[in-house]
Amino acid sequence: MALIRSQDREGVRLLTLDHPPVNALSFALSKELLAAIASAEAQASVRAVVFSGANGIFSAGADVNDFRDEMPADATTIRDVIAAVERGGKTYIAAIESTAMGGALELALACDYRLAAPRSKLGLPEIRLGIIPGAGGTQRLPRVIGAQAALEMMLKGESIPAEEAKRRGLIDEVVEGDLVEAALALAARAIQSEPKRRLSQRKVEIAAGVHAFALPYVVAQAHKMCPPEDRGGLAAHKLVDAVQAAFELPFERGLAREYRLFDQLVRSAPAQALMHLFFAERELAKVPGLSGAQAREIEKAGVVGGGTMGTGIAITFANAGIPVTVIEPAEEQVEKAKQMVFGMFMHQVQRGRLTQEEAWRRGQSIVFSDDYGELGDADVVIEAVFEQLDLKRHVFERLDAVTKAGAILASNTSTLDIDAMAAVTSRPQQVLGLHFFAPANIMKLLEIVRGAQTAPQTLATAFKLAKTLRKVAVLSGNAFGFIGNRMLFDYAREAVYLAEEGVPPHRVDAALKEFGMAMGPFAMFDLSGIDVFRNVQLVRREKGAARTAIVERLCALRRFGQKSGAGFYRYEKGSRDPVPDPETERLFAEEAAKAGVERRQDVSDEEIVSRTIYALINAGANLLHDGVALRSGDIDVAYIYGYGFPPHRGGPMWYADELGVAEVLDGVMRFRQRLGEHWEPSPLLVEIARGGGTFAEHGKELTHA
Ligand code: 3HC
Ligand code: NAI
Repeated sequence: MALIRSQDREGVRLLTLDHPPVNALSFALSKELLAAIASAEAQASVRAVVFSGANGIFSAGADVNDFRDEMPADATTIRDVIAAVERGGKTYIAAIESTAMGGALELALACDYRLAAPRSKLGLPEIRLGIIPGAGGTQRLPRVIGAQAALEMMLKGESIPAEEAKRRGLIDEVVEGDLVEAALALAARAIQSEPKRRLSQRKVEIAAGVHAFALPYVVAQAHKMCPPEDRGGLAAHKLVDAVQAAFELPFERGLAREYRLFDQLVRSAPAQALMHLFFAERELAKVPGLSGAQAREIEKAGVVGGGTMGTGIAITFANAGIPVTVIEPAEEQVEKAKQMVFGMFMHQVQRGRLTQEEAWRRGQSIVFSDDYGELGDADVVIEAVFEQLDLKRHVFERLDAVTKAGAILASNTSTLDIDAMAAVTSRPQQVLGLHFFAPANIMKLLEIVRGAQTAPQTLATAFKLAKTLRKVAVLSGNAFGFIGNRMLFDYAREAVYLAEEGVPPHRVDAALKEFGMAMGPFAMFDLSGIDVFRNVQLVRREKGAARTAIVERLCALRRFGQKSGAGFYRYEKGSRDPVPDPETERLFAEEAAKAGVERRQDVSDEEIVSRTIYALINAGANLLHDGVALRSGDIDVAYIYGYGFPPHRGGPMWYADELGVAEVLDGVMRFRQRLGEHWEPSPLLVEIARGGGTFAEHGKELTHA
């Protein structure tokens, strides 16, 4: 099937990329495009070429799938296409409908003219995939907007809207009407005048008014701002090198440097991990049995409980333009919640992210009440009262009575049984869990918890709602702790056991931060509250889970974490910086003695990491085995967005695949022998290790079901 369409009009050849869904510039498409350019160049009657995109988009850039396997020796890439444009004698114009990302913007930058529609967005997001632009972007962008601005744009990987692109000289015109017609008209005019406007001929400046002497300073500053190479910063440093080359070398040599840097990165472990996450995120909503389900419209929402979570959830709805009513009976809590809402929007205004008017409008769209009757016209209601099943069941009964028939009822519970809540309603098919993470208006992760009777339509609506709320939604079965917290329990257990064995909590945290975790486990418990952790542990203990003595001791001493000035760490007044506390180490030593735990001096950083991370992996394998999580990629995404797992390692299950599942099983078996039965390997871990497979392959069929 042809991936491009060709049409001639009065000396202008229109080449339309047509490779659904996003006109990705695959090897196959590049081959066709290269042939089309050669043909246009060979015909004297063709004087200009316009590139445009079908399917409502210019192009999403190179096909990321092509970067996941070895590149065939004879592959035609977008680089070849761009080189042909650069060499060509015709006038080239890009008509950028909607989106030009990565290689697509690089193609546009090689053209003489660029036009865009008002809704178009342009960007070089390669850094998010652990690579750098590899088809001339690092050399041409600095020639348009200056080296400093180009570096900033590419390091952030953000796309910019058409108007801004016009202001910065990236495009020539924003076209209100028919973009392709405007491009054809421009082509007709352009062929009458000077054809060549190639960016490769331009000089690079650092920024307006900044002398070239400043380059070493700009470069050094940029390197300083990037994370270390082994902590997710590999591509960022190479990007700085490439832009430096744009400044220091002639175009062709700069381009060769960029190619070399790109080629070093594209099959690197961090890039492969980030590409895995790119596709894993796009697979989340592909749930067997859901494809025919029609999502309902959500125009109005309700939240029950205006505490920490309820207020954050209400702000999330307001940010998405959905009015929300919060039911909160405690007057003093209503005042606190209003202050939180006000403070949050004011902060956005101060940071220049919102206008005063917009902040006001969003604030007004959150209404507080103590009357459940106000929820009568809500399309979805999220319960966020205290974590007590009886109370939640009571709330669900009332919600069932007051809300309209089609309304979806959701719980934000961290651990409790969704089916037990659904059971008290007349609409269990419209009940599910929507588990937000604190702070709910900031954290991207949302776990969608499927009850035994949750209908496909309810799930489809939840996925659509998540998109509207700009959350990354992961489906979980209705099991204690769902996906994220269930895994966290085992991770936390090992962290606590290590401390009992004599490793100071700050050493455990430091080793895991070195591994790349955003925060160490003990600092994290102090942040979320040790009392909260204790409540969960109490329920787990009923289910036969492990020792909790240290948590009891800390709570008895009112060391609840940051909020009380001490937890596993101490905190100076007004500071959130954890200070290691010998008192905690003493408590651990006492508890270890009581439990008969042998103290050790020889625990390496490597052991700290493998014990905690293997515990995560083994728990993840059990979730897959039990069907609580659909795919290993779902678990990876949850851990990246909800728990600060380092993206460049791809998530815990991808990390296991990279290490080799057999290697992980070996470690788990050794820990089992030395440390006890809680290290029982997951049956799935054993199965995959013995079969020589990977977690990524397991469950793949679900996506394509
Ligand atoms: N390669 C392969 N597939 C891609 C793709 C790409 N560059 N971009 C999107 N897709 C696929 C998605 O996997 C998804 O497939 P599915 O329907 O089978 O799940 C489908 O296109 C739709 O994608 P989204 O769900 O993300 O659609 P949206 O409309 O929400 O977003 C988009 C569209 C803004 C283009 C977004 O997909 C995006 O940001 N894509 C990635 C852009 C990117 O990173 N480009 C750089 C590529 S690397 C490169 O160009 C290297 C060069 O410098 C040499
Ligand atoms: P919170 O204690 O801050 O707020 C609970 C609110 O519910 C209080 O303001 C209380 O007055 C109100 N409330 C109690 N009974 C009510 C009723 N019958 N009707 C209306 N409102 C009522 O608790 P938080 O932290 O916001 O947690 C709420 C839920 O969210 C819990 O189920 C919790 O497990 C879950 N959760 C908490 C997270 C956290 O980090 N705090 C993270 C994710 C989920």
